Formats: sequence, structure tokens, C-alpha cells
Amino acid sequence: MNKTIVSPSILSADFANFGQSISEIDASGAQWIHMDVMDGSFVPNLTFGPPLLRALRGKTKLFFDVHLMTVTPNRFVKEFAEAGADAITFHYEAEVHSQKYLTEIRSLGLKSGIAIAPASPCSVLEEVLPFIDIALVMTVNPGFGGQTLITECLEKVVKLAKMREKAGLNFRISVDGGINEQTALKAVKAGADTLVMGSAFFGINDKKGLVERLEN
Ligand code: DX5
Ligand code: ZN
Repeated sequence: MNKTIVSPSILSADFANFGQSISEIDASGAQWIHMDVMDGSFVPNLTFGPPLLRALRGKTKLFFDVHLMTVTPNRFVKEFAEAGADAITFHYEAEVHSQKYLTEIRSLGLKSGIAIAPASPCSVLEEVLPFIDIALVMTVNPGFGGQTLITECLEKVVKLAKMREKAGLNFRISVDGGINEQTALKAVKAGADTLVMGSAFFGINDKKGLVERLEN
């Protein structure tokens, strides 16, 4: 079983002060930072790209957990790797040749991840399970922070955990969207080991306490 980890999402950070947000994540004891890349096409919102990662890479040793919500995600794999990504997760819905690019991500020395939107069943991941380090189950429709978790999506976490066990694999199961202390407990119970957290993380003063409670 994988240890539970919190991956704070800088989508909910102060965009005028990313350096400060990085310091807050470092001080919280979290080891990952979730970076939501949105292209205004795959999702109805725009965020940032490799230049931001590169700028932040010099400031922290946090594990850069990059979540691409972009069409043709393969176009950017190398750029994000060079900018300092530690893991790249792209959407099943956005890439026909997912096995090829998951393999490419690993060959660059990074962890590979695939994400599914609420409308996609987890069965679509069956053939690529050996090629992933992270399965990201979106628990809201991607595009915006601060939404309410869609409870039904947690059933996919249960199913994925079973698929993982059956296959004898140990990829992480990450949940993303509407995760707070209450929903995190449900997600962990369902089988999630990686908790992406945006608004709930940046909305609490005692971030260290939050991370400790969730990771233990
Ligand atoms: C949503 C993003 C999430 C977002 C989660 O499209 O993929 O990573 O930051 O934000 P919260 O935790 O506020 O739902
Ligand atoms: Zn995300």
C-alpha cells in the first residue's frame, strides 16, 4: 500500500505571489505540488505553462506533479520535463496514443500519469495500467478550483484499486477536485493515496496540521 500524500494545487494560490505560495507548501511538510496546466480548449480556462515551472524549480525541491488539461498533450511533454516536472499526467480523453506517450514520459526519467474525467469509466485504463505511475481520478469536471466533489467518482477509485490489486501493480491513485478534510477521508477509504487539494489547502491557516492529519 502506498503512503497517503497531499499534493497542494497552486491553482488556488495567489497568482501574484507564487514564490510565497511555494514557501507555504514547503513549510506545510507536503512533498508534492500539483500544477494544473489548462489550455482554454480541453477545459474552459487558461493557466500557465513551462516558464512558470522553470521559475519555481529554482526555489524548491518539491515534487512537481504536473496535470495537463490540454489537447494534444504529447506536444508539451519534453518542454515540461525540461522545465522541471517530476511527473506528467495527461488526460485519457485528450490522447489516442496514450501508451506511447506514457512510455516516453518514463523514458525521460519522470513518473507517468493518466487522468480520467468524471464521464470516463475506469475500464478505459485497463490496457495502460502497466505503463502508469499515477492514475488520476477527477472528482469534479476539470477546469476550475473550488467545485464540489462528485461522490459517484469515488466508486471508480474503489474499482481502480481492485484493478491494481488484480494486476499486481502499485501505481498511485490520485483524486482531484473538491477534496477537503471530510471528502479526503472518504477518498482514502475508497482507495486513494494521493490527495490533490487546492482551495481547502490554501483556505486553511494551519497547513502543517492539515497535512499531518491527512498523511497519517
Ligand atoms: C481542477 C483541477 C484541480 C483543482 C482542484 O480542474 O484539476 O487540481 O486545483 O481544486 P479544488 O481542490 O479547489 O477542488
Ligand atoms: Zn489537477
